Amino acid sequence: MKDSGKFIVLEGPDGSGKTTQIAKIEDYLRERGIDFVSTREPGGVQVAEKIRSVILDVENDMSGLTECLLYAAARREHLIQKVIPALNEGKVVICDRYVMSSLSYQGYGRRLGEVVLEVNKRAIDVEGKQYWADMNIYLDVTPEIGLQRIHAKHADREINRLDLESNDFHHRVRDGYLKLEQEYAEQFKKIDASQNEDAVFADIKEVIDNLLLSNRV
Ligand code: TYD
Repeated sequence: MKDSGKFIVLEGPDGSGKTTQIAKIEDYLRERGIDFVSTREPGGVQVAEKIRSVILDVENDMSGLTECLLYAAARREHLIQKVIPALNEGKVVICDRYVMSSLSYQGYGRRLGEVVLEVNKRAIDVEGKQYWADMNIYLDVTPEIGLQRIHAKHADREINRLDLESNDFHHRVRDGYLKLEQEYAEQFKKIDASQNEDAVFADIKEVIDNLLLSNRV
């Protein structure tokens, strides 16, 4: 069977507004009658959701490499059990975070460097094929704006272990994303997520339209 779907990943620092924008993308795809699966990392399938709760639990202490391996383990199962089957059915897969999150958070944030890429190349290799995202839509905000948003009163999201990291950590994560944007230019679209919700979505819509259009050629 051929994997003919499109694999679209939303990336960005905490508080960049991914959740809101993913809901808008889902509405948009539904309106256009496009068959899609919307999912998230870490998680998306039972075993990966269990790994997620271990990683994000504020009570758990672990080394950076352990964290990297756990994200990679969750990633591989989610990929095998959910993403690849959907792509094989020709569906669009919208995923909240993927490999670029590990490269920025563990590679740059935790300063683990190259090993993160090595581990992830192995984790996304299924039957000899590496499953990279067709496009990473990167919502860019400064850590100041992002953290302010997630700590804002009434934010409907629990504070997790990563949120509690230092400002320096969050700056390294964002700088990491900006470096990745240069390195993986063809798979990356950076969007200014400090704009209002509608303006951010207008930019996202353009990227998605181009991507889905290129599918039809
Ligand atoms: P989540 O509650 O999903 O946060 P968000 O809404 O910001 O995506 O928590 C996921 C956290 O895990 C987030 O802080 C980013 C982090 N993360 C990594 O550090 N590495 C990874 O590979 C992934 C997928 C997530």
